[in-house]
Amino acid sequence: MLARETTPSAIVRYLDQYVIGQEEAKKVLAVAVYSHYRKIATFGHDQEAMAKSNVLLVGPSGTGKTLLCDTLSRMLKVPFVSADATSLAQTRYVNEEIEAALQRLVDKADGSIERAQQGIIFIDEIDKLKVSDGQSRAISGESVQHALLKIMEGAPVKLKDQHYIDTRNILFICGGAFVGLENIMARTQSFGFIATSADDNQNILDRLNQRVKPTDLFEFGLIPEFTGRLPVIARLHDLSKAMLVSIISVPKNSIYRQYVEIFRGEGVDLQVAPRVFEQIAEIAIEYKTGARSLRGIFEELITPILYVVPDHPEIGKVEISSLFENARLVGRK
Ligand SMILES: Nc1ncnc2c1ncn2[C@@H]1O[C@H](COP(=O)(O)OP(=O)(O)OP(=O)(O)O)[C@@H](O)[C@H]1O
Ligand SMILES: [Mg+2]
Repeated sequence: MLARETTPSAIVRYLDQYVIGQEEAKKVLAVAVYSHYRKIATFGHDQEAMAKSNVLLVGPSGTGKTLLCDTLSRMLKVPFVSADATSLAQTRYVNEEIEAALQRLVDKADGSIERAQQGIIFIDEIDKLKVSDGQSRAISGESVQHALLKIMEGAPVKLKDQHYIDTRNILFICGGAFVGLENIMARTQSFGFIATSADDNQNILDRLNQRVKPTDLFEFGLIPEFTGRLPVIARLHDLSKAMLVSIISVPKNSIYRQYVEIFRGEGVDLQVAPRVFEQIAEIAIEYKTGARSLRGIFEELITPILYVVPDHPEIGKVEISSLFENARLVGRK
C-alpha cells in the first residue's frame, strides 16, 4: 500500500514543510506508519506475527497534533479518516458512529473494502473519553472506550450494505491534550529512573523520565485495556517564541504568505518586519493556546488595511514595522 519511496525520513521531510518543531512526534509517527505497512507487506494476515502499533499523540492544545495528522493524510496515498471522540461521547449510538467512520473509510478507498482495511483512522480529542463519575452509563467516556477497543484490536464490522469490514490491519492514531497529565507524571516521576552513577547518561535518563507511562494514563482516566491498544506514545511540546515566529511566516501555507498573495492580487507589495512576528508570538504565548491565536492576532492587524487598500489603486506598497504603530501606505511611483 505504501509507495517504496515513502520512507520514514521522506515522511518527516514532507511534514517539515507544514509543521514547525515537534521533531520527536514527527519521527515516531513516521516510523509507526512505515513499520505498519511493512508489517502488512511482510506478514500479510498472519495475526500471530503482526502486533499492531497504534499511536497516541499527547501534547498541549494548539501545538500541532491535529495538524500533524491532517498533513500526514495529505501525503500518504492510503485511505484516511478522522473522527472526533467528543462527538462519539455525545451520541447514544456509538456503534453506529463508528460504523459510519468505517463507511467513510471505504468511500475514501473508492468503495474498495480491501483497501479500506489497510487505511488509517485518526481519533482526535481522545482525552475527552476519560472515566468520570456522574455520567449516565450509556454515554460515558468509558463505554466509548470499550466500543473503540474492539475495533482497535481488530474485529469484523457490518456496514450498511451488509458487507463486512475487518479492522485488524487498520492503523489507529489517537490524539489528545490530556490536561493535567503533566502533574500526574511529575508525581509518579520520583519512582522513575534516577541516575545511580556519575557516568550515567543523563540524556537517556531524562528521556526515560519524560515518557508517558501507561500507569499515568490509567490515572488520568483511560481504562487499562484501552491504553494497552496504544503501545506507541509520542509527545508534542509547548512551542517556543522562535517556533511561533516561524509558524507565522515559514510554512508553505503560512498566514503571512497567504496575505502576501492576497495583497499581490491587488497589485500591492506587503512587507511585514520580523519584529512584528515576534510581537505577535509574545502575545500568543500569553494567551496559552499554542499557535491557535496567531491567525486572529495577525488578522486583527491586517483587517483595517485590507479594508482600505482595494479602494485605492494608487497604493503600491504596505509596510508594517510594529504591531503598535500604523502601517505605512506607499503610493505607486
Ligand atoms: N507545530 C506547528 N507548526 C505549524 N503550525 C502549527 C503548529 N502547531 C499548531 N499550529 C497552528 O495552530 C493551529 C492549531 O493546531 P492543532 O489543531 O494542530 O492543535 P492541536 O494540538 O490539535 O490542539 P487541540 O489539543 O486543542 O486539539 C493549526 O491549524 C496550525 O495553524
Ligand atoms: Mg486537535
